[in-house]
Amino acid sequence: MPPLEVGDAVMFNAREELAGEVMRKKRASGPEGGDPAKSSPTSHALVIHGPNLNLLGEREPQVYGRTRLADIDRALKSLGRELGVAVETFQSNSEGEIVDRIQQARNRADIILINPGAYTHTSIAIRDAISAVGIPVIEVHLSNVYKREPFRHHSTIADVAVGRIMGFGAEGYYLALRAAASIAAQKKG
Ligand code: DQA
Repeated sequence: MPPLEVGDAVMFNAREELAGEVMRKKRASGPEGGDPAKSSPTSHALVIHGPNLNLLGEREPQVYGRTRLADIDRALKSLGRELGVAVETFQSNSEGEIVDRIQQARNRADIILINPGAYTHTSIAIRDAISAVGIPVIEVHLSNVYKREPFRHHSTIADVAVGRIMGFGAEGYYLALRAAASIAAQKKG
């Protein structure tokens, strides 16, 4: 495997996930079929992407990589099927919509993965929503914010998150989902 880099290596990984999914579908539709009970998801993860992340792939690719948001979402859903986690994804450029979505996750999501984009550094409303619902949250960033401008070093949600993953490009979302799967499984006992 080549070393992990933002961009190509991550795309390779996403393709691998998709290829795996095609194989699983083939197996499930074969003469023996699959055991639907075995693959049915037991946990529910909500993935929230904040402002400007809809432009991933074309937005500052030297910082954020060339993987598009739709590819990340597809790969997350595919990986979720493997891990027994139903993955729902949501993107918004609006702080209020993100707050609404966190509130709606009450009694529905076992865990939230969130990349709040620039709201990471400013939003007390998103932080308060996370505290209000009491759902475990994993904070994800494509770039290593500590290698960037000082205003990106502060996160309003860091101390209400279970943990933070940053600097691995799109791969960070897949690492976060693996962590989410085990946290959600532990929660269910
Ligand atoms: C980001 C980092 C933020 O500082 C920035 O505003 C973003 C993306 C990241 O994923 O690296 O929009 O959250």
